[in-house]
Amino acid sequence: MNPEHHELVAILDFGGQYTQLIARRVRDLHVFCEIMSCDTSAARLAERSPRALILSGGPASVYADGAPTCDPAIFELGLPVLGICYGAQLMATLLGGSVEHAASGEYGQTAVSLSRSSRMFRGLSPEITTWMSHMDRIHDVPAGFEVTAGTAVCPVAAMEDSTRHLYALQFHPEVAQTTAGTQILERFLFDIAGCSGDWTMESLVNTAVQDMRSRIGEKRALCALSGGVDSSVAAALAYRAIGQQLCCVFVDTGLLRADEGGQVEATFRGHFGAPLVRVDAGDRFFAALEGITDPEQKRKAVGSTFIACFAEQARTAQDAQFLVQGTLYPDVIESGSPVARTIKSHHNVGGLPPDLGFDLVEPLRLLFKDEVRNLGRILGLPEELVTRQPFPGPGLSVRVVGEVTRHKVDIVRRADAVVERVMRQSGWYDKVWQSFAVLPDVHSVGVQGDTRTYGHTIAVRVVDSSDGMTADWVRLPSEVLHELSQAIVSEVPEVNRVVYDITSKPPATIEWE
Ligand code: XMP
Repeated sequence: MNPEHHELVAILDFGGQYTQLIARRVRDLHVFCEIMSCDTSAARLAERSPRALILSGGPASVYADGAPTCDPAIFELGLPVLGICYGAQLMATLLGGSVEHAASGEYGQTAVSLSRSSRMFRGLSPEITTWMSHMDRIHDVPAGFEVTAGTAVCPVAAMEDSTRHLYALQFHPEVAQTTAGTQILERFLFDIAGCSGDWTMESLVNTAVQDMRSRIGEKRALCALSGGVDSSVAAALAYRAIGQQLCCVFVDTGLLRADEGGQVEATFRGHFGAPLVRVDAGDRFFAALEGITDPEQKRKAVGSTFIACFAEQARTAQDAQFLVQGTLYPDVIESGSPVARTIKSHHNVGGLPPDLGFDLVEPLRLLFKDEVRNLGRILGLPEELVTRQPFPGPGLSVRVVGEVTRHKVDIVRRADAVVERVMRQSGWYDKVWQSFAVLPDVHSVGVQGDTRTYGHTIAVRVVDSSDGMTADWVRLPSEVLHELSQAIVSEVPEVNRVVYDITSKPPATIEWE
């Protein structure tokens, strides 16, 4: 997908916890935006012809040693600029104002009074609730600026120089708790920056399809399907672009969730008519996993077996020059600035190495997960596939503690299917990040009827998260827990005990291994 076809808003990243959220909100308003390093030069920005700039928040203090800054020339480009929190304070200091360290900060929902003369706040009620998260605050506003909002402890909660199109907010319009946040962003993007909102899923499909066609031409491309949303959407998009020149390879590892393989095959072979090679490699994977109990060794065994299987298929499709992958935007955001987040080592399908000799095509590399889901719907993928929760590349092998055997994988797969069904039926499936079953390889005594049993334990794990880096265990209602427990023990006879994992990440991880 070539973003050059769309209006662009550039978000300079100062390491704020909400930077991705700003991008999400802007895109929800149908304006394409990219997160860039805060030290991107004004000249480099000008080359991309953005409609506007947004300076994100950040954890630093503007006067601290090594605090991230930006090229002051960005304010001379004549572009509308919106500074948020740290971005607002930086705008103040770079343009001749000052920032002070307050004795007490503001955190959480805070009432803010708005000035009637503000261009940014025109039409809003004079007092709104906002989300604040700051210690420092703007003290002196730079020449040409007008103070346009204040709180009980923060006299400059917003400032603007409408002649130069420079706007600064101490609060976070991107956070849902800021009641007029969407209206404020709309005001900035549409009224002030003159964006038209040309970023729609339909336009995105068209540009992505055109780009893929012109890049791949008459050649052939391979796509490794994993059963997950990302590779399925990438494949569906590629199929729309190049039709029968695409060959999908689906390696069934024997470690997938219930029905995953069948669903992928039915969707691509039956529904789309896309050429699909299914490799039933379960035996090979179980052989590779034999005797291994260490989680990292399991990952390596699954990863290398996957690559071997895929490479064999790739060799038979000798004329394929391109490899389509479902890499997403959060995996590629790399601001390269001093405050850049550590990039999550990204596990694409089986972690295919670059030396397989293909040119990579990554049609989703600028999209967030929920955009990918919407795209999947537009492309006609089944809802169940589109909404399926994330699943680790090594599959159920990391949900069986200890040595992986077919029998244990079979138990955890059936228990997992029950968890998915109960979560969907109770309306919780789409509200959480992940919900699944783990086989801890613990046996305990039970009693069923008059019979003493010595059966398996299943641990149910349900977590909420925004990016998988941290997670909170979900406080499911006791009726749902009850239903989960009852359904698992009655439908999976090998199990006589169900426990619920009440640990967050950190200190635990989401997966048990
Ligand atoms: P952890 O267990 O590290 O998981 O808290 C964070 C997120 O990543 C997924 N995960 C993996 N995904 N290969 C993957 O493709 C892996 O080896 C892997 N390990 C964990 C996990 O399901 C969660 O969403």
